[in-house]
Amino acid sequence: MLYLIDTAKLEDIRRVCEYYPVAGVTTNPTIISREKGDFKKIICDIREIIGENKQLHVQTTATEAKDILREAEMIRQTVGGNFFIKIPITKEGLKATEMCKKMGIGVTMTAIFTQPQALMAARAGADFVAPYINRLDNIVSDGVNVVNEIVDIFKVYDIKTQVLAASFKNVEQVHKVSMTGAHAVTINPDLFDMMIYHPLTYYAIDDFTADWQQVYGEKGVCDLL
Ligand code: G3P
Repeated sequence: MLYLIDTAKLEDIRRVCEYYPVAGVTTNPTIISREKGDFKKIICDIREIIGENKQLHVQTTATEAKDILREAEMIRQTVGGNFFIKIPITKEGLKATEMCKKMGIGVTMTAIFTQPQALMAARAGADFVAPYINRLDNIVSDGVNVVNEIVDIFKVYDIKTQVLAASFKNVEQVHKVSMTGAHAVTINPDLFDMMIYHPLTYYAIDDFTADWQQVYGEKGVCDLL
């Protein structure tokens, strides 16, 4: 399962990319708006930080297929590299997905809340579908189960579209999604830190240090070789 960063905050992207195995960055109009900056500069800066090879998913704001295609072409030209246009699942979005694919543009069909939406997106040619876990959990639905069934349907029909699960608030949701065989998750920078946090790990490291220092003092491994 791949990890992507769900943010447009440049310092967070730099920090997470420095420490964690990151496959790319996802944004949406809400995430971009939070930065209150120049849209073109933000997406170009993200590309510069992550390089050409990592995935960059940027969402359209258009609602009609021909306009979505135009935005997709312009954003692709602007950011280059490994790019996916994010398109919400609507009738026009499905039409735009087919048009984008004909033009060789990668597509992530987003705002997915049901299994039938995901299957339809896949049949339209989407490279990724992005189901929203926490927003489903918030309405007493079961986000993980939706992802699980999407993964299963894709296996049944031998569909190559990948599942990029989004909208997470805690490690448990990410863990349960990983058990479904979903291909990727996009999570916020703080959640990256929480993914590897465990107090027993810190206790263990403290014990290793204390035991070593009792014998070797402040000397490190390199000092003794
Ligand atoms: O990429 C979609 C994701 O950002 C939605 O997350 O936290 O707004 O539900 P959230």
